[in-house]
Amino acid sequence: MLSNPPGIEDIYPDRIDAWDRVTGAARDVFRLGNYREIIIPIMEYTEVFSRGLGDETDIVSKEMFTFEDRGGRSLTLRPEGTASVVRAYVANGEYNRLSSAKFFYCGPMFRAERPQKGRLRQFNQFGAEFFGSSDPYYDYEVIAMMHAISRRVGIGDFTLLVNSIGCPGADCRGEFIEQLKRYFTNHREALCEDCKRRLDRNPLRILDCKQEGCAALKKGSPSIADHLCQSCREHYTGVKEHLDAASVAYTEDPFLVRGLDYYTRTTFEFVTDRLGGQNAFAAGGRYDSLVETFGGKPTPAVGFAAGIERMLLLAGDAAIPASRLDAYLVHGGGESLRQATALARLLRESGISADLDPQGKSFKNQFKKADRESARFTVIIGGDEAAERSCTIKDMATGSQEKLPADECPARIRESLTGAKGRHGSD
Ligand code: HAM
Repeated sequence: MLSNPPGIEDIYPDRIDAWDRVTGAARDVFRLGNYREIIIPIMEYTEVFSRGLGDETDIVSKEMFTFEDRGGRSLTLRPEGTASVVRAYVANGEYNRLSSAKFFYCGPMFRAERPQKGRLRQFNQFGAEFFGSSDPYYDYEVIAMMHAISRRVGIGDFTLLVNSIGCPGADCRGEFIEQLKRYFTNHREALCEDCKRRLDRNPLRILDCKQEGCAALKKGSPSIADHLCQSCREHYTGVKEHLDAASVAYTEDPFLVRGLDYYTRTTFEFVTDRLGGQNAFAAGGRYDSLVETFGGKPTPAVGFAAGIERMLLLAGDAAIPASRLDAYLVHGGGESLRQATALARLLRESGISADLDPQGKSFKNQFKKADRESARFTVIIGGDEAAERSCTIKDMATGSQEKLPADECPARIRESLTGAKGRHGSD
């Protein structure tokens, strides 16, 4: 038997309802906020990510699936969506010329991480990116969208962490990084080998290191909160004011730097303690320099992405109704199979889902299959029914049966289905 590579999973039909509920909620919320879908490629030239995310990040230095194309150019399976959306935004002058643009995306991402619960090598994200303004309103808007999506899918027990990591200015993050360097240089021996290297090249990354020794040092390290320049401080206050006004609860975490180098000012994460080691199910922030890094004109931007598999783990399946087939057709072979096939076609044309087994051995066997499919009705066409072009509809919930002309079957099932929905809706 062939198996899938570790951390690369199949998503079986029984998870699709839950899947659709999560992505459907995201799509609804994006539509309400006037975000429009962009479909970005699954693979890019490697420099899109190395330049976009930063060479020192774990993702670029250790986790990318990278290979050469036949012409010897380096390609990478996308580990995230933001860099691709920025590349696409810069490449398409039409969007670039608009004063602002709102995009969302949904699809698989690839990171060569050590697989465990909620941490996969192929996982799926939905995300949104806003381009064109540094107004804190937009930081709030993307956070509020993720907040609304979580609520819609029934995830309530999370903490929203927020921070501002300032701008690269000398009087802001520049000064902070100098202080960090001094602090960690004094504690160099306690740092992991990766962080010793980061000390010279990108000390901010040390704050994101999960190694015990480095994480412990973080507690006594300088805090960005004490180093924000005036305009970053005002921006951060603006974001918090919007969140307060919308009653979106948050916790400030001055060490939230995130694992990607493109962030400026706002960073945020939606975290829970229900995911073991993987505590964030959605995250994002502002990246005001990335469009320029990709050759576009200076364009402030902010966005987020959520892990669909992690959201499914949190939402659970309980609140999600099992998928139901409307009608399973049971037949006696020969002429009754022919009539059942025609009736299945008629039902489907009327928008009623229908299924049958042309090889259906016994009635008992076919009833078992109807059960397994959680069919709402079974429609029986045995020898007698075939002779009189009728069918017997059995309501699987109540056990009641009714015989009627086959061509009246779709209308009767439709009536029962909408009646049932109507009753349910008025409960
Ligand atoms: P990220 O924090 O790397 O941010 O990923 C966002 C979400 O993707 C995580 O919170 C998590 O739910 C999910 N995720 C990440 N890695 C895995 C994995 N190995 N297995 C399962 N789920 C995973 C970004 O990707 C940024 N592009 C977010 C962003 C958008 N920032 C600005 N705009």
